[in-house]
Amino acid sequence: MAADRSKFSNKFGFIAAAAGSAVGLGNIWKFPFEVGNGGGSAFLIVYLVFCFVLCYPILVTEIAIGRKSQKSAAMAFKPLGHPRWSIVGILGVFCGVLILSFYNIVAGWVLGYFVEMLLGNFDIGKNFGTYIQDIAEVGGYTIAFLIATTYIVSMGVTKGIEKASKLLMPVLLAIIIILTIYAFTLDGASEGIHFYLVPDFSKLNLNVIYRALGQSFFSLSLGLGAMMTYGSYLSSKENIASAGVYITLADVGIAFLAGLMIFPFVFSQGLTPEGGAGLIFITMPGIFETMGPTLGVVIGSLFFLLLAFAALTSTISLMELPVAYMVDKHKIKRKKAVWYSAGIIFLLGIPSMLGNGYSEYFTSFITYVGAEKPVNFMDFVTDVASNTLLPFGGLMVSIFAIYAWKRQKLFKELSVGNPNFTKTFLSRYIAFSLKYICPPILGIIFIITVLEIFFGVKIL
Ligand code: PHE
Repeated sequence: MAADRSKFSNKFGFIAAAAGSAVGLGNIWKFPFEVGNGGGSAFLIVYLVFCFVLCYPILVTEIAIGRKSQKSAAMAFKPLGHPRWSIVGILGVFCGVLILSFYNIVAGWVLGYFVEMLLGNFDIGKNFGTYIQDIAEVGGYTIAFLIATTYIVSMGVTKGIEKASKLLMPVLLAIIIILTIYAFTLDGASEGIHFYLVPDFSKLNLNVIYRALGQSFFSLSLGLGAMMTYGSYLSSKENIASAGVYITLADVGIAFLAGLMIFPFVFSQGLTPEGGAGLIFITMPGIFETMGPTLGVVIGSLFFLLLAFAALTSTISLMELPVAYMVDKHKIKRKKAVWYSAGIIFLLGIPSMLGNGYSEYFTSFITYVGAEKPVNFMDFVTDVASNTLLPFGGLMVSIFAIYAWKRQKLFKELSVGNPNFTKTFLSRYIAFSLKYICPPILGIIFIITVLEIFFGVKIL
């Protein structure tokens, strides 16, 4: 065990960093458009069930694996006596790099929009489609964002990741609460809330379930070892089960608030919630415009600043995956490892950047068997990495915990810093879910969706 391994300074530091990883563009950019496409509240309910029933137990397990092994994702299985399982961690690192390659581009749009709002250019919303094809501009902001991430990660765990998260997370919460209160005062707010909160189960289908599952894993940063890596920096004084509860509640709570904020905005403008990936970028500037030139600039720039903060605490956890891998496995210096990672991530992101209209090839990248329309490169990477591989990673973690590592050892680790753990309800809940719920549900959904979506085999 490396005695000199960096550590978060206390429980709040860890929760801020882990919640910072969880709360990101996934909550404020992706969640609302997934809800919009998935028929509103039906999607919301399935997502919530997945978060609490499947994701919470997997979150706790990932943190425990990381803390026990004192190693990042790809290296964590070996010290626990199961070197063959390292493949799950390596797949996770690969997945993290893929996700960051496109995530970083959306973060670049956010940064660009922040500047446009400061300049009072509210027309940018109508011009979203052309804006994202402006490769020089989007590329510039993407590089700027990547450099910010790289800089923080290069500062290390306590001085970089923890410090940034402790500062940014409370600010983010404050901004989102102010905007939600404002949204509630608008005409049309009740229509938005109705769409968001009154369930219409006729909208449920396999695709909605598949997306809600991917969203729950993406949103909680699960299935790729990000939480394992953060867990490896957690001290043995801390109670993992309760930290997991806070992280889950923070993540779900902020996604829920983001919905409460955005749908009143969308409906008050007479717009439709099915705006796809552009939803917030298209609708929000128009809303800020109606606030008048001064207030519009203030609220509009605050909003995109909030998104940029949320994104930054997530991109640092994604970048920590390849960096910790290089540091732990290849003994490369952290400062070098971050720049190598940044280079790879930037290059891999180029097709996603070009696939928003600039290059026809990457824009109509692939048509799934039986589908009517092609999807662009970014959507394809999202389907493969976040909607399919993350739940698959979660499936592997649950199987590992119960059948390879075994419940006793997991519980022993969860009792460190929480001596009464085995007597609590949470322990029974976690054990039950990991054994009886996660493997069958994740396994079945994985098989069905891979066959249906990628190979066009009709099962349901
Ligand atoms: N959870 C982050 C978000 O919601 C994204 C993320 C996924 C971060 C996986 C780390 C690992 O934006």
